[in-house]
Amino acid sequence: MPDSEDILTLGVESSCDETAAAVLRGGRTLLSNVISTQIPVHRKFGGVVPEIASRRHIVNVMPVIDEALREAGVVLEDIRQVAVTYGPGLVGALLVGVSAAKALAFARNIPLIGVNHLEGHIFANFLSHEELEPPFMALVVSGGHTALIRVQGYNHFTLMGQTRDDAAGEAFDKVARVMGLPYPGGPEIDKLAAQGDADAIDFPRALREKGNYEFSFSGLKSAVLNYLNEMKMKRAEIDKANVAASFQKAVIEVLVQKSLEALSEEGMKTLVLAGGVAANSALEGRLREAAEAHDIRFYYPSKILCTDNAAMIACRGYYQSQAGIFSDLSLNAVPGLSLTDVKA
Ligand code: KG4
Ligand code: ZN
Repeated sequence: MPDSEDILTLGVESSCDETAAAVLRGGRTLLSNVISTQIPVHRKFGGVVPEIASRRHIVNVMPVIDEALREAGVVLEDIRQVAVTYGPGLVGALLVGVSAAKALAFARNIPLIGVNHLEGHIFANFLSHEELEPPFMALVVSGGHTALIRVQGYNHFTLMGQTRDDAAGEAFDKVARVMGLPYPGGPEIDKLAAQGDADAIDFPRALREKGNYEFSFSGLKSAVLNYLNEMKMKRAEIDKANVAASFQKAVIEVLVQKSLEALSEEGMKTLVLAGGVAANSALEGRLREAAEAHDIRFYYPSKILCTDNAAMIACRGYYQSQAGIFSDLSLNAVPGLSLTDVKA
């Protein structure tokens, strides 16, 4: 048996519109990270079309796994375990990765590890930061989720609060869509906001009471839509950069404030950012400033590991395997797998 630091884990991810596979040595040495994105396919529809996503995953999953093995310079026989996202996500999309991983585990007679996608996002940070270890506070901001999670150990998570309605990334995507920007809207708003005045429009910030770690972005989204409609009715000119910057500031302010409060409440000194929205340059900048001002260590993943990838799934899978948390071949996709299902 290889030493655990030499174990090769194959990660597979297909929860939304990225088909991805990665090979990891031990817990933190990434040998390959292959991502086949479907963004150009879904862009013409303004968002992800689940049926198309599933079909694309079926076509892509084995070539992507082959490519990950090739890039890592290994063969399937070298892989000791397979980690796969089983939720949350689109059911048809998840099923493709789960079925492929089950087939490989069965054929090779190696362990299968079902991974929660949100836990995976957090673990992307272990790949970018050799020295990072729990405990820390994690802010997970993606297209499907916005949550503050206390990470006490590699397999010990407590949900502090999450969004009541839209996720932060979802709000970015929806606001971008009404402004006529292409999917996914997050990076587009990010770029546009850099040219705008963030104080131009005073959009609302929800649930700001101290000690409340829940988020709500649907009111903010509606406020932006109302503003745009009102301006159109008045035939007034809309400065899209100002709208993007003011909207983005409203999202970021709430994320920063709640993260700082959660850290202080729990007496923690380390903040970890994760999820697709972590790629937002202004969010990262504001969190870094706030962390410096409050003597907090701040970590975020490299850009390629912020959005969906299989490296983070392999990493999460490795740490589960170290704790003996495996799945059997009855593993199924759980589209609504929530943070409350996270092992405590
Ligand atoms: O984590 P992810 O790849 O998929 C989910 O698990 O949801 O996150 C995708 C989300 C999308 O909503 C996308 O618009 C957003 O992350 N995103 C960004 C940026 N890059 C991606 N949002 C704001 N600024 C960005 N630079
Ligand atoms: Zn994700």
